[in-house]
Amino acid sequence: MQCLRVLYVVLWAFGFTSTANEHKEHALRLMAEAPLIDGHNDLPWQLRLRFNNNLKSVDLYTLNSTHTNIHKIKEGRLAAQFWAAYAPCDSQYKDAVRQTLEQIDVIHRMCQKYPEDFMLAASSQDIMEAFAQNKTASLIGVEGGHSIDSSMGTLRIMYQLGVRYLTLTHSCNTPWADNWLVDTESEPVEHNGLTNFGKRLIREMNRMGMLVDLSHVSEQVMRQVLDTSKAPVIFSHSSTYAICPHKRNVPDDVLKKVEDNRGIVMVNFYNNFVTCRQSANLSDVADHFDHIKKIAGSSTVGFGGDYDGVNRVPTGLDDVSKYPDLVAELLRRGWTDDEIKDALGRNLIRVFKDVEMVRDTLTNTSPDDEPIPLEQVKNPCRTDYGYPPQPSSARVPSLGAPALVSTVALISLCVKFM
Ligand SMILES: *[C@@H]1O[C@H](CO)[C@@H](O)[C@H](O)[C@H]1NC(C)=O
Ligand SMILES: *[C@@H]1O[C@H](CO)[C@@H](O)[C@H](O)[C@H]1NC(C)=O
Ligand SMILES: *[C@@H]1O[C@H](CO)[C@@H](O)[C@H](O)[C@H]1NC(C)=O
Ligand SMILES: [Zn+2]
Repeated sequence: MQCLRVLYVVLWAFGFTSTANEHKEHALRLMAEAPLIDGHNDLPWQLRLRFNNNLKSVDLYTLNSTHTNIHKIKEGRLAAQFWAAYAPCDSQYKDAVRQTLEQIDVIHRMCQKYPEDFMLAASSQDIMEAFAQNKTASLIGVEGGHSIDSSMGTLRIMYQLGVRYLTLTHSCNTPWADNWLVDTESEPVEHNGLTNFGKRLIREMNRMGMLVDLSHVSEQVMRQVLDTSKAPVIFSHSSTYAICPHKRNVPDDVLKKVEDNRGIVMVNFYNNFVTCRQSANLSDVADHFDHIKKIAGSSTVGFGGDYDGVNRVPTGLDDVSKYPDLVAELLRRGWTDDEIKDALGRNLIRVFKDVEMVRDTLTNTSPDDEPIPLEQVKNPCRTDYGYPPQPSSARVPSLGAPALVSTVALISLCVKFM
């Protein structure tokens, strides 16, 4: 009797493991057919922090103190990655543009140093070409509107350098958009969303073919952009508010608007956004995928791990090698092959193609070359060449900006945490 019971348990355990193995093998098959495209990875920021961007002193095969290295990328079947070109908010009104350009440069150099493993990519077609060659398509996203110093020209030049999304804010307001912290009441609302210049920036991004990223922005900005943009938008690394009520996450009514917009929300794995606690596991992350599917359909979801931008990741998703385990979990939960492939990358490809199509319909629209009104960017580190001479009384610098910068500096010290 005892013996039979043991046998039963052993058989049950065997059955359980072999089903788990089947899901994993099934996941790997799907990932060989459709590219996994992740919306946000901060390895470039780790290269800045640990090596001051000195790639000669880094071996991306053996580097093992980060979530990301080349072996883990291969094991995780990471086919395409938007690498974040990030400069902390305390560089706003200082050297944010230089810092950002250096991050764009280090992404370019990373692709040059490992040409067998990475391919710089700037279009939906590039992603598919890299996938066919078993290389990780490397796209660039600038994380934070402060990186363009309120300048359309700077944004356009960044596009020329390969940047394909702009996250409208990081965790600080810009002169033209509010960030998510205004919804926590730890920062005052400054613009009620986007200013007129902010709205013009959206139109300019539509014209250029740059994706608009709504992670990190205030709820009002989310809604205004969804009403303004001619092209689908993304949340490159945000989870769902219904499951974890953190203001970095996306509320259900916005999820529905994203569905109408044909955009996507790429799920962030950061524990604090997944469970609103310090601990989380793979199954908790899968809950966010299920929730987006329930509210807005599987055409509205994607992966946005935020690896190397956070200090805590869920058990079972310890680094970029673990994506197949999450895919296996979705299979276990009854996701169909088509739904999985959409989530993996087909949704992002659809968004990207739509963005490229909108760009192509706007080729006869000229660039927006009207600078931001001077009074909106009065700060000690900006000169006013080109603007009409001001009466001297109007030249008093604004006091708002420095106070804001110092608040934000506190939040964005050294480690990123989102
Ligand atoms: C890398 O680190 C992980 C723990 O974070 C460890 O399990 C693994 O063995 C390490 N790999 C190498 C090649 O050192
Ligand atoms: C990519 O990898 C697959 C599976 O490992 C292999 O069959 C295929 O030939 C490779 N393609 C290229 C272009 O290396
Ligand atoms: C994951 O964590 C949740 C609590 O957030 C718990 O209920 C669940 O059992 C855990 N799952 C696994 C597989 O550990
Ligand atoms: Zn972020």
